[in-house]
Amino acid sequence: MTILALETSCDETSAAVVRDGRVLSSAVSSQIKLHAEYGGVVPELAAREHLRNLIPVVQTALREAGVQTEQLDAVAATQGPGLPMALLVGFKAAQAIAFTLRKPFVGINHHEAHLYSPWIMSGGGAFAADFTAFQPNISLIVSGGHTMLVKVESELKHRVLGSTVDDAAGECFDKTGKLMGLPYPAGPEIDRLAEQGNPKAYDFPRPLLNDPGDDFSFSGLKTSVRYFLRDHPGILDNTQRLRDMCASIQAAIVEVLVKKTIRAAKRNHVRCVTASGGVTCNRALRRELARACEREGFELRLAEKSLCTDNAAMIGILAERKLLANIAPTSLDEEINPGWVLA
Ligand code: KG4
Ligand code: ZN
Repeated sequence: MTILALETSCDETSAAVVRDGRVLSSAVSSQIKLHAEYGGVVPELAAREHLRNLIPVVQTALREAGVQTEQLDAVAATQGPGLPMALLVGFKAAQAIAFTLRKPFVGINHHEAHLYSPWIMSGGGAFAADFTAFQPNISLIVSGGHTMLVKVESELKHRVLGSTVDDAAGECFDKTGKLMGLPYPAGPEIDRLAEQGNPKAYDFPRPLLNDPGDDFSFSGLKTSVRYFLRDHPGILDNTQRLRDMCASIQAAIVEVLVKKTIRAAKRNHVRCVTASGGVTCNRALRRELARACEREGFELRLAEKSLCTDNAAMIGILAERKLLANIAPTSLDEEINPGWVLA
Protein backbone atom coordinates (compact mmCIF):
# COMPACT_ATOMS: atom_id res chain seq x y z
CA MET A 1 0.00 0.00 0.00
CA THR A 2 1.40 3.44 -0.93
CA ILE A 3 0.25 6.47 1.06
CA LEU A 4 0.91 10.20 0.77
CA ALA A 5 0.68 11.89 4.20
CA LEU A 6 0.60 15.58 5.09
CA GLU A 7 1.27 17.28 8.44
CA THR A 8 0.62 21.00 9.01
CA SER A 9 -0.64 21.18 12.61
CA CYS A 10 1.89 23.73 13.86
CA ASP A 11 5.01 25.22 12.31
CA GLU A 12 6.42 22.42 10.14
CA THR A 13 5.05 21.80 6.66
CA SER A 14 5.68 18.12 6.01
CA ALA A 15 4.84 15.51 3.39
CA ALA A 16 5.87 11.86 3.33
CA VAL A 17 5.34 8.82 1.15
CA VAL A 18 4.98 5.53 3.02
CA ARG A 19 4.76 2.07 1.47
CA ASP A 20 4.26 -1.20 3.36
CA GLY A 21 5.69 0.20 6.60
CA ARG A 22 8.67 1.83 4.88
CA VAL A 23 9.16 5.58 4.75
CA LEU A 24 10.06 6.19 1.09
CA SER A 25 10.47 9.93 1.64
CA SER A 26 9.91 12.51 4.35
CA ALA A 27 10.13 16.20 3.44
CA VAL A 28 9.93 18.83 6.17
CA SER A 29 10.01 22.60 5.75
CA SER A 30 10.48 24.21 9.14
CA GLN A 31 9.27 27.73 9.91
CA ILE A 32 11.36 28.10 13.08
CA LYS A 33 13.43 31.00 11.74
CA LEU A 34 10.31 32.92 10.71
CA HIS A 35 8.65 32.62 14.12
CA ALA A 36 11.89 33.19 16.09
CA GLU A 37 11.60 36.90 15.34
CA TYR A 38 8.31 36.96 17.31
CA GLY A 39 9.48 34.68 20.15
CA GLY A 40 6.85 32.01 19.41
CA VAL A 41 4.59 30.60 16.71
CA VAL A 42 2.28 33.21 15.12
CA PRO A 43 -0.77 31.21 13.89
CA GLU A 44 -1.67 33.48 10.95
CA LEU A 45 1.92 33.49 9.69
CA ALA A 46 2.14 29.71 10.11
CA ALA A 47 -0.95 29.20 7.93
CA ARG A 48 0.36 31.49 5.22
CA GLU A 49 3.70 29.68 5.20
CA HIS A 50 1.96 26.30 4.92
CA LEU A 51 0.03 27.62 1.91
CA ARG A 52 3.26 28.78 0.31
CA ASN A 53 5.25 25.62 1.06
CA LEU A 54 2.78 22.77 0.80
CA ILE A 55 2.89 22.07 -2.95
CA PRO A 56 6.72 22.24 -3.20
CA VAL A 57 7.03 19.98 -0.13
CA VAL A 58 4.56 17.44 -1.61
CA GLN A 59 6.43 17.55 -4.94
CA THR A 60 9.72 16.91 -3.12
CA ALA A 61 8.25 13.97 -1.19
CA LEU A 62 6.83 12.38 -4.36
CA ARG A 63 10.03 12.96 -6.31
CA GLU A 64 12.30 11.57 -3.59
CA ALA A 65 10.05 8.52 -3.26
CA GLY A 66 9.99 8.04 -7.04
CA VAL A 67 6.21 7.79 -6.84
CA GLN A 68 3.60 9.23 -9.23
CA THR A 69 0.24 10.36 -7.85
CA GLU A 70 -1.48 7.59 -9.84
CA GLN A 71 0.45 5.03 -7.77
CA LEU A 72 -1.03 6.26 -4.47
CA ASP A 73 -3.53 3.96 -2.72
CA ALA A 74 -4.59 6.46 -0.04
CA VAL A 75 -3.98 9.98 1.26
CA ALA A 76 -3.68 10.96 4.95
CA ALA A 77 -3.38 14.19 6.92
CA THR A 78 -3.33 15.45 10.49
CA GLN A 79 -6.91 16.28 11.53
CA GLY A 80 -6.05 17.64 14.99
CA PRO A 81 -5.11 18.79 17.51
CA GLY A 82 -3.30 21.90 16.32
CA LEU A 83 -3.65 25.48 15.11
CA PRO A 84 -6.97 25.67 13.20
CA MET A 85 -5.77 27.67 10.19
CA ALA A 86 -2.58 25.63 9.94
CA LEU A 87 -4.44 22.30 10.12
CA LEU A 88 -6.90 23.44 7.45
CA VAL A 89 -4.18 23.85 4.83
CA GLY A 90 -2.86 20.27 4.94
CA PHE A 91 -6.19 18.62 5.75
CA LYS A 92 -8.17 20.24 2.93
CA ALA A 93 -5.33 19.74 0.43
CA ALA A 94 -5.16 16.03 1.32
CA GLN A 95 -8.94 15.66 0.97
CA ALA A 96 -8.77 17.37 -2.44
CA ILE A 97 -5.99 15.03 -3.61
CA ALA A 98 -7.95 11.99 -2.39
CA PHE A 99 -11.07 13.30 -4.15
CA THR A 100 -9.24 13.78 -7.44
CA LEU A 101 -7.55 10.37 -7.28
CA ARG A 102 -10.75 8.66 -6.00
CA LYS A 103 -8.74 7.07 -3.18
CA PRO A 104 -9.51 6.70 0.55
CA PHE A 105 -8.63 9.57 2.87
CA VAL A 106 -7.52 9.12 6.50
CA GLY A 107 -7.64 11.94 9.09
CA ILE A 108 -5.14 11.29 11.86
CA ASN A 109 -4.85 12.43 15.48
CA HIS A 110 -1.40 14.01 15.77
CA HIS A 111 -0.79 12.65 19.28
CA GLU A 112 -1.80 9.14 18.29
CA ALA A 113 0.79 9.32 15.50
CA HIS A 114 3.48 10.35 18.01
CA LEU A 115 2.66 7.17 20.01
CA TYR A 116 3.88 4.92 17.19
CA SER A 117 6.85 7.01 15.99
CA PRO A 118 9.31 5.22 18.35
CA TRP A 119 8.62 2.02 16.35
CA ILE A 120 9.96 3.61 13.17
CA MET A 121 13.59 2.57 12.98
CA SER A 122 16.41 3.79 10.76
CA GLY A 123 18.46 1.24 8.89
CA GLY A 124 20.67 1.66 5.85
CA GLY A 125 19.72 5.33 5.55
CA ALA A 126 15.97 4.60 5.38
CA PHE A 127 13.20 4.47 7.96
CA ALA A 128 10.80 1.56 8.43
CA ALA A 129 8.23 0.69 11.07
CA ASP A 130 8.79 -2.54 12.93
CA PHE A 131 5.54 -3.56 14.59
CA THR A 132 6.58 -7.21 14.89
CA ALA A 133 8.55 -6.09 17.95
CA PHE A 134 5.57 -4.23 19.39
CA GLN A 135 4.78 -4.75 23.04
CA PRO A 136 2.54 -2.93 25.54
CA ASN A 137 4.26 0.23 26.70
CA ILE A 138 4.08 3.53 28.52
CA SER A 139 4.60 6.32 26.02
CA LEU A 140 5.86 9.79 26.95
CA ILE A 141 4.88 12.46 24.42
CA VAL A 142 6.74 15.62 25.20
CA SER A 143 6.91 18.69 22.97
CA GLY A 144 6.29 22.42 22.83
CA GLY A 145 2.53 22.01 22.91
CA HIS A 146 1.97 18.83 24.89
CA THR A 147 3.28 16.62 27.68
CA MET A 148 1.43 13.36 28.22
CA LEU A 149 1.79 9.83 29.51
CA VAL A 150 -0.15 7.20 27.60
CA LYS A 151 -0.58 3.49 28.16
CA VAL A 152 -0.45 1.76 24.78
CA GLU A 153 -2.04 -1.61 25.49
CA SER A 154 -1.87 -3.02 22.00
CA GLU A 155 -1.54 -1.59 18.54
CA LEU A 156 -4.23 1.11 18.01
CA LYS A 157 -5.47 0.69 21.59
CA HIS A 158 -4.36 3.24 24.15
CA ARG A 159 -5.45 5.19 27.22
CA VAL A 160 -4.15 8.59 28.32
CA LEU A 161 -2.94 8.42 31.94
CA GLY A 162 -2.04 12.04 32.46
CA SER A 163 -1.05 15.29 30.81
CA THR A 164 0.10 18.74 31.78
CA VAL A 165 -2.29 20.90 33.77
CA ASP A 166 -0.59 24.09 32.54
CA ASP A 167 2.59 24.53 30.46
CA ALA A 168 4.10 21.74 28.37
CA ALA A 169 7.71 20.73 29.10
CA GLY A 170 8.94 22.24 25.81
CA GLU A 171 7.11 25.45 26.66
CA CYS A 172 8.95 25.46 30.00
CA PHE A 173 12.30 25.14 28.18
CA ASP A 174 11.30 27.91 25.77
CA LYS A 175 9.87 30.31 28.38
CA THR A 176 12.66 29.94 30.95
CA GLY A 177 15.13 30.31 28.08
CA LYS A 178 13.40 33.52 27.05
CA LEU A 179 13.76 34.81 30.63
CA MET A 180 17.49 34.15 30.30
CA GLY A 181 17.61 36.01 26.98
CA LEU A 182 18.02 32.92 24.79
CA PRO A 183 16.53 32.88 21.26
CA TYR A 184 13.31 30.95 20.43
CA PRO A 185 13.02 27.99 20.59
CA ALA A 186 15.27 27.89 23.64
CA GLY A 187 15.07 24.11 24.22
CA PRO A 188 17.97 23.14 21.94
CA GLU A 189 20.06 26.09 23.21
CA ILE A 190 19.51 25.10 26.87
CA ASP A 191 20.46 21.53 25.93
CA ARG A 192 23.72 22.83 24.39
CA LEU A 193 24.66 25.20 27.25
CA ALA A 194 23.70 22.64 29.92
CA GLU A 195 26.30 20.15 28.62
CA GLN A 196 28.99 22.28 30.30
CA GLY A 197 26.96 23.30 33.33
CA ASN A 198 26.48 21.89 36.80
CA PRO A 199 22.93 20.48 37.19
CA LYS A 200 23.22 20.73 40.97
CA ALA A 201 24.29 24.40 41.03
CA TYR A 202 20.77 25.71 41.67
CA ASP A 203 17.82 23.94 43.17
CA PHE A 204 14.62 24.49 41.18
CA PRO A 205 11.26 22.90 42.06
CA ARG A 206 10.17 19.55 40.64
CA PRO A 207 6.39 20.18 40.35
CA LEU A 208 4.07 17.22 41.04
CA LEU A 209 7.08 14.90 41.34
CA ASN A 210 5.68 13.25 44.44
CA ASP A 211 2.05 13.47 43.39
CA PRO A 212 0.72 9.91 42.89
CA GLY A 213 -1.11 10.88 39.66
CA ASP A 214 0.31 11.00 36.14
CA ASP A 215 -0.31 14.70 35.47
CA PHE A 216 2.46 17.24 34.98
CA SER A 217 2.77 20.94 35.81
CA PHE A 218 5.60 23.21 34.68
CA SER A 219 4.38 26.77 35.19
CA GLY A 220 5.60 26.87 38.82
CA LEU A 221 9.12 26.02 37.71
CA LYS A 222 9.02 28.85 35.19
CA THR A 223 7.82 31.28 37.89
CA SER A 224 10.57 30.22 40.27
CA VAL A 225 13.17 30.86 37.55
CA ARG A 226 11.66 34.33 37.03
CA TYR A 227 11.94 35.17 40.76
CA PHE A 228 15.43 33.69 40.96
CA LEU A 229 16.61 35.93 38.11
CA ARG A 230 14.93 38.96 39.73
CA ASP A 231 16.72 38.26 43.03
CA HIS A 232 20.08 37.53 41.39
CA PRO A 233 20.52 40.26 38.80
CA GLY A 234 23.79 39.94 36.93
CA ILE A 235 23.90 36.15 37.15
CA LEU A 236 23.56 35.89 33.39
CA ASP A 237 26.61 38.10 32.79
CA ASN A 238 28.77 35.15 33.76
CA THR A 239 28.89 32.44 31.07
CA GLN A 240 29.54 29.60 33.49
CA ARG A 241 26.64 30.65 35.71
CA LEU A 242 24.37 30.76 32.65
CA ARG A 243 25.46 27.20 31.81
CA ASP A 244 24.79 26.17 35.42
CA MET A 245 21.33 27.77 35.28
CA CYS A 246 20.54 25.88 32.05
CA ALA A 247 21.79 22.59 33.50
CA SER A 248 19.81 23.10 36.72
CA ILE A 249 16.53 23.98 34.95
CA GLN A 250 16.99 21.06 32.55
CA ALA A 251 17.71 18.69 35.45
CA ALA A 252 14.43 19.70 37.14
CA ILE A 253 12.38 19.11 33.98
CA VAL A 254 14.14 15.84 33.12
CA GLU A 255 13.86 14.43 36.65
CA VAL A 256 10.08 14.98 36.67
CA LEU A 257 9.63 13.46 33.21
CA VAL A 258 11.81 10.41 33.90
CA LYS A 259 10.57 9.58 37.39
CA LYS A 260 6.90 9.93 36.49
CA THR A 261 7.34 7.85 33.33
CA ILE A 262 9.11 5.04 35.19
CA ARG A 263 6.55 5.12 37.99
CA ALA A 264 3.69 4.82 35.47
CA ALA A 265 5.46 1.92 33.73
CA LYS A 266 5.86 0.05 37.01
CA ARG A 267 2.29 0.66 38.13
CA ASN A 268 0.88 -0.48 34.78
CA HIS A 269 3.03 -3.62 34.64
CA VAL A 270 4.46 -3.01 31.16
CA ARG A 271 8.03 -3.95 30.19
CA CYS A 272 8.58 -1.19 27.65
CA VAL A 273 8.87 2.61 27.68
CA THR A 274 8.75 4.82 24.57
CA ALA A 275 9.25 8.56 24.06
CA SER A 276 8.65 11.03 21.24
CA GLY A 277 8.02 14.75 20.58
CA GLY A 278 10.49 17.62 20.15
CA VAL A 279 11.80 17.55 23.74
CA THR A 280 12.83 13.90 23.21
CA CYS A 281 15.74 15.39 21.21
CA ASN A 282 17.11 16.59 24.57
CA ARG A 283 20.33 14.74 25.33
CA ALA A 284 19.91 14.73 29.12
CA LEU A 285 16.38 13.32 28.79
CA ARG A 286 17.60 10.58 26.42
CA ARG A 287 20.49 9.75 28.75
CA GLU A 288 18.45 9.75 31.95
CA LEU A 289 15.61 7.71 30.45
CA ALA A 290 18.16 5.17 29.20
CA ARG A 291 19.82 5.00 32.62
CA ALA A 292 16.52 4.60 34.50
CA CYS A 293 15.16 1.99 32.08
CA GLU A 294 18.35 -0.03 32.30
CA ARG A 295 18.27 0.10 36.10
CA GLU A 296 14.61 -0.94 36.24
CA GLY A 297 14.78 -3.53 33.46
CA PHE A 298 12.55 -1.77 30.92
CA GLU A 299 13.13 -1.86 27.19
CA LEU A 300 13.43 1.75 25.98
CA ARG A 301 12.46 2.97 22.53
CA LEU A 302 13.24 6.60 21.81
CA ALA A 303 11.97 8.07 18.54
CA GLU A 304 14.79 8.83 16.10
CA LYS A 305 15.72 12.51 16.49
CA SER A 306 14.44 13.46 13.02
CA LEU A 307 11.09 11.84 13.87
CA CYS A 308 10.81 13.46 17.34
CA THR A 309 9.77 16.80 15.92
CA ASP A 310 6.62 17.04 13.81
CA ASN A 311 6.72 15.04 10.59
CA ALA A 312 4.35 13.47 8.08
CA ALA A 313 6.12 10.09 8.13
CA MET A 314 4.48 9.17 11.46
CA ILE A 315 1.10 10.30 10.06
CA GLY A 316 1.51 8.01 7.05
CA ILE A 317 2.69 5.03 9.11
CA LEU A 318 -0.34 5.26 11.43
CA ALA A 319 -2.75 5.80 8.51
CA GLU A 320 -1.46 2.60 6.90
CA ARG A 321 -1.87 0.61 10.13
CA LYS A 322 -5.46 1.84 10.40
CA LEU A 323 -6.32 0.88 6.83
CA LEU A 324 -4.70 -2.54 7.29
CA ALA A 325 -6.80 -2.98 10.46
CA ASN A 326 -9.92 -2.25 8.35
CA ILE A 327 -10.73 0.96 10.19
CA ALA A 328 -13.10 2.99 8.01
CA PRO A 329 -11.52 5.89 6.08
CA THR A 330 -12.46 9.47 6.97
CA SER A 331 -15.22 11.11 4.93
CA LEU A 332 -14.25 13.86 2.51
CA ASP A 333 -16.92 16.00 4.22
CA GLU A 334 -15.20 15.83 7.59
CA GLU A 335 -13.69 18.93 9.12
CA ILE A 336 -10.51 19.55 11.08
CA ASN A 337 -10.63 18.95 14.84
CA PRO A 338 -8.26 21.54 16.40
CA GLY A 339 -9.13 20.55 19.98
CA TRP A 340 -9.10 16.79 19.42
CA VAL A 341 -8.17 15.28 22.77
CA LEU A 342 -6.61 11.84 22.77
CA ALA A 343 -8.68 9.63 25.08
O1 KG4 B 1 7.41 18.44 18.58
P1 KG4 B 1 7.83 19.85 18.33
O2 KG4 B 1 8.69 20.12 17.13
O3 KG4 B 1 6.60 20.81 18.15
C1 KG4 B 1 5.48 20.83 18.93
O4 KG4 B 1 4.51 20.09 18.59
O5 KG4 B 1 5.50 21.59 19.92
O6 KG4 B 1 8.56 20.35 19.65
C2 KG4 B 1 9.16 21.61 19.76
C3 KG4 B 1 9.62 21.79 21.19
C4 KG4 B 1 10.10 23.20 21.50
O7 KG4 B 1 9.56 23.60 22.73
C5 KG4 B 1 11.60 23.02 21.61
O8 KG4 B 1 12.23 23.95 22.48
C6 KG4 B 1 11.71 21.62 22.14
O9 KG4 B 1 10.71 20.90 21.47
N1 KG4 B 1 13.04 21.04 21.88
C7 KG4 B 1 13.94 20.77 22.85
C8 KG4 B 1 15.08 20.25 22.20
N2 KG4 B 1 14.83 20.20 20.86
C9 KG4 B 1 13.57 20.69 20.69
N3 KG4 B 1 13.86 20.92 24.17
C10 KG4 B 1 14.93 20.56 24.89
N4 KG4 B 1 16.07 20.07 24.35
C11 KG4 B 1 16.19 19.90 23.03
N5 KG4 B 1 17.31 19.41 22.49
ZN1 ZN C 1 3.91 17.02 17.83
